[in-house]
Amino acid sequence: MVARIVADVYAECLADRSGEPADYIPELAAVQADSFGLCVATADGRVYGAGDVQAPFTIQSISKPFTYALALADRGPAAVAERIDVEPSGEAFNEISLDPVTARPRNPMINAGAISAAALIGGRDAAEKFERVRRCYSRFAGRELRVNEAVYASEARTGYRNRAIGYMLRSFGVIDSDPDEAVDRYFRQCSIDVTCHDLAVMAATLANNGVNPLTRERALSSTLTEQVLSVMTTCGMYDAAGEWVSTVGMPAKSGVGGGILAVLPGQIGIAVYSPRLDRHGNSVRGVAACRELSRRLELHFL
Ligand code: DON
Repeated sequence: MVARIVADVYAECLADRSGEPADYIPELAAVQADSFGLCVATADGRVYGAGDVQAPFTIQSISKPFTYALALADRGPAAVAERIDVEPSGEAFNEISLDPVTARPRNPMINAGAISAAALIGGRDAAEKFERVRRCYSRFAGRELRVNEAVYASEARTGYRNRAIGYMLRSFGVIDSDPDEAVDRYFRQCSIDVTCHDLAVMAATLANNGVNPLTRERALSSTLTEQVLSVMTTCGMYDAAGEWVSTVGMPAKSGVGGGILAVLPGQIGIAVYSPRLDRHGNSVRGVAACRELSRRLELHFL
């Protein structure tokens, strides 16, 4: 039944060619704009896909919940909460802002919070810290993930807004290490290549309380998995978070590479890849496909 629904939703969403791929990171404009993949992985390890499920694309902002998870594991929830709040901002992902009262980034899903989380990753030096990030994502995906060097170089060459955010965080004491190093780690994590299949398995690992249902390896404790899913629920879709919760009703995260990951806790993970984006920076077909899957599989739980 699930295989049938996945195939039907894929076929229905395929015709929509509205929106444009992101181009503010020059290399992202080089993607095949009409690629489309849809993949569902269950918490007990079954996988159903349609379309371009093995095409690689960069994870971009979908990296944010996973780095936040590693920061929570490395520093503990209390130390992370001192630096990064968990309130929805209702702002764009790249807003240059801190909470006026607490002087913290409002949540770990906007760039300010994500760069702060990247600064909190443990390790002896920058190389070891990034390697720990890469390994963490790989445990969620169940295979070794790698950086797309062309996209990394493109973002590193043009990412002045994120550097401005890094310097703002350093000047307010949210980051107390080298802000350039934290921003560089953030650029690298965003440039990790994944497939729609990988993202579905990562989502299913979150759905399965932090244990990868294919490899049976634990990627995150169940307590921290809950925390990550809560923040995805309120903040994962930025300024479209309210509409998302009311129409799809699942914790989710989108990326400007065209990916969307959604989780029904205890049940399934969903991933969509389609690079044409709406005005919020969310994949047009991705939002439509998640809405349809949620309706047909009765996944709306919020
Ligand atoms: O920082 C950026 O602009 C990108 N590396 C990631 C942004 C992103 O994916 C926002 N999500 N929709």
